[in-house]
Amino acid sequence: MLKSLKLTNVGPAPMLELNLADRLNLLTGDNGLGKSFLLDVVWWVLTRKWPHDLNDNLTSGYPARPADPKLGSSIAFDLTTANAKSVSYESTYSRQDQAWVGRPGRPPNPGLVVYAHADGGFSVWDPARNYWKTKQGMDIQESLPGYVFSPKDVWDGLDAEIGGKITRVCNGLLADWAAWIRERGDTAERMKNVLARMAPTGEVFEVGPLVRLSVNDARDIPSIHMPYAEAVPILHAASGVRRVVGLAYMLLWSWNEHVRASEALGEKPTKTVVLLFDELESHLHPRWQRTILSSMLHIAKELHDQAEIQLIAATHSPLVLASAEPVFDADRDAWFDIDLERNKVVLRKRQFVNRGEISNWLTSNAFDLKQARSKEAEDAIEKALAVLRDPKPTRRAVEDADTALRNACLPDIDPFWVKWGYYVETKMPKNQQAAKKTASPVRKKKGNSK
Ligand SMILES: Nc1ncnc2c1ncn2[C@@H]1O[C@H](COP(=O)(O)OP(=O)(O)O)[C@@H](O)[C@H]1O
Ligand SMILES: [Mg+2]
Repeated sequence: MLKSLKLTNVGPAPMLELNLADRLNLLTGDNGLGKSFLLDVVWWVLTRKWPHDLNDNLTSGYPARPADPKLGSSIAFDLTTANAKSVSYESTYSRQDQAWVGRPGRPPNPGLVVYAHADGGFSVWDPARNYWKTKQGMDIQESLPGYVFSPKDVWDGLDAEIGGKITRVCNGLLADWAAWIRERGDTAERMKNVLARMAPTGEVFEVGPLVRLSVNDARDIPSIHMPYAEAVPILHAASGVRRVVGLAYMLLWSWNEHVRASEALGEKPTKTVVLLFDELESHLHPRWQRTILSSMLHIAKELHDQAEIQLIAATHSPLVLASAEPVFDADRDAWFDIDLERNKVVLRKRQFVNRGEISNWLTSNAFDLKQARSKEAEDAIEKALAVLRDPKPTRRAVEDADTALRNACLPDIDPFWVKWGYYVETKMPKNQQAAKKTASPVRKKKGNSK
């Protein structure tokens, strides 16, 4: 479990520092301010491998590069290991080696780590299969440093080189899910339950029969039941459905394989699980965005039963933030927000306050919109507000603001009309009420002149 992280002269800011919460950590910030980068660094801190180094089909997860190569760069962190030991560590960048270096020897064991990338790829680090072993009193580095899946690998399977041989390390979603369905065993049932848990409340995500795509394709493809079709092959399903199925599969696969490998090795399954999600909401309709976070918390708890689970999720969705309101607990959870201030990237821990209507999240520090309206309506209202603030606006300024409001197609029901209409009615001298007529929402609407 990661406790703290401090980056100096690496990534988008001269310094980034955060103290993480034990359960839920939410990360917000505009595009390009370093959310995905931070998740990559967290993955590296926990596993000491950069995702892209393990699978160059990825389009992200490159090794962190110092911002100014002439200055010293460091990645420092504190974590609690799977054996509940506290470890502090600092790695510095060596220009000669072009690599991050630190204490030699076996790194701490962070427990099971699953990282869902924004594009549908996944990285999994399994303490039973990817951690160094002790053989005859010596620490031996395992040959497979982690499982990094491109989006295609998740579906079709992953091969990796082990001891010089290409080995199939994961059969992939299509083959595994079909096999689970044929076996009619526990795993098919668990996949069904995980999927049911992911659907927004009241909807059921029903698994259909195995189907063929064509007479030339011998694969039995799992299908899902849609209200309008008995069996939609999962390969034809919408990207949101495929995202959710991919998440369900990777969570199940990583846990099942970990438990199997632990049994084979005569070890106990880990009690620590760290889940990293980039763009938790990606491809999901608002109804699903509103439930995905609580679904993930529930699923993780059900799958990992006795384990401590830390979740770190980057999001662009006000619905995800709003969905945290009923569960957010300041003792166990935290929200970090990244902003651009005077051309500098700044990360802050923000106080999480419930905001009620979801649009209030849009205008909060998380998303920094001035208004939860179209950009055109926002500009027009800002213009009108400037008139309201002016003790002596000219008639021309009032007319211009009124025209801007109409051109922005601010709808009749917009509460701003009440303020604006009242202002024109009461504050403008009668002889200056050129805008008065048009300020009535009914008349001002374009193309509404029946
Ligand atoms: N491997 C890397 N090494 C150093 N900096 C990086 C690396 N990858 C991304 N960055 C920094 O992060 C920025 C991209 O941020 P990213 O994390 O993709 O944004 P977002 O918040 O939208 O997820 C880049 O402009 C760059 O400054
Ligand atoms: Mg990103």
